Amino acid sequence: MTDKSIGIFDSGVGGTSIWKEIHLLLPYENTIYLSDSLNAPYGPKGKKAITELCIKNTELLLEKDCKIIVIACNTATTNAIDYLRENYKVPFIGIEPAIKPAALQTKTNAVGILATKGTLTSELFSKTSGKFASNINVVEQVGEGIVQLIESGKLYSGEMTNLLKTYLKPMQDANIDYLVLGCSHYPYLIPQLTALLPEHVKIIDSGEAVAKQTKVVLKQNDLLSTSSIKPKNIFYTNGQPELLNKILEDDVVTSYLNF
Ligand code: DGL
Repeated sequence: MTDKSIGIFDSGVGGTSIWKEIHLLLPYENTIYLSDSLNAPYGPKGKKAITELCIKNTELLLEKDCKIIVIACNTATTNAIDYLRENYKVPFIGIEPAIKPAALQTKTNAVGILATKGTLTSELFSKTSGKFASNINVVEQVGEGIVQLIESGKLYSGEMTNLLKTYLKPMQDANIDYLVLGCSHYPYLIPQLTALLPEHVKIIDSGEAVAKQTKVVLKQNDLLSTSSIKPKNIFYTNGQPELLNKILEDDVVTSYLNF
């Protein structure tokens, strides 16, 4: 059981930012990653459509005998994790925007959050935000178009710079000192965001917390790998394997799969 894989899925290549954190913390775990690039972006889709896509990804990872499933997508987590937990026995780990640490640490009483429409309009996000950030000015911004640009290989492009400048402007006007990245594609934007934001603004994402939580839940369920040999890390995409390879910058094998 312990040598079974950790299954990870995202609407596309962005969840590899979470895979990297998991692989760093749990280097001997086998992993299977699904990049549902064909259906990206999930953000503008409704809860029902997002849940159906999550069911499809979950079923495939279960067919591949995964011992735990990490939903490496804020949009999928905030819209579908309750349904998945109610309907499947496998443990699920989700990712949500790190609004709590930002709200606890802000000195200017203003934090920015960049996420998809699906995440920002979800019940789960409004609950978390209401619980931890009700006394704080939370400047919410839908990152419309960002995922599409990353999925089409335009991470570094004039179009991306222009979008980011537009999205950061209201946050800077509100004097934020924390920017929360509420989408697993966005950690790949950190170099550009750092260059555009004033030095005192801290950028936070949830990748490390997700990896830690994955370890905790594996341990609780006696599922941690006991191996000390190089693991198998398998990456499937229903889009372009080259894009996954480029973003992973790692010695990994990516393949096309129709799912
Ligand atoms: N990586 C997904 C997330 O964390 C992107 C969602 C999308 O495809 O729009 O929300």
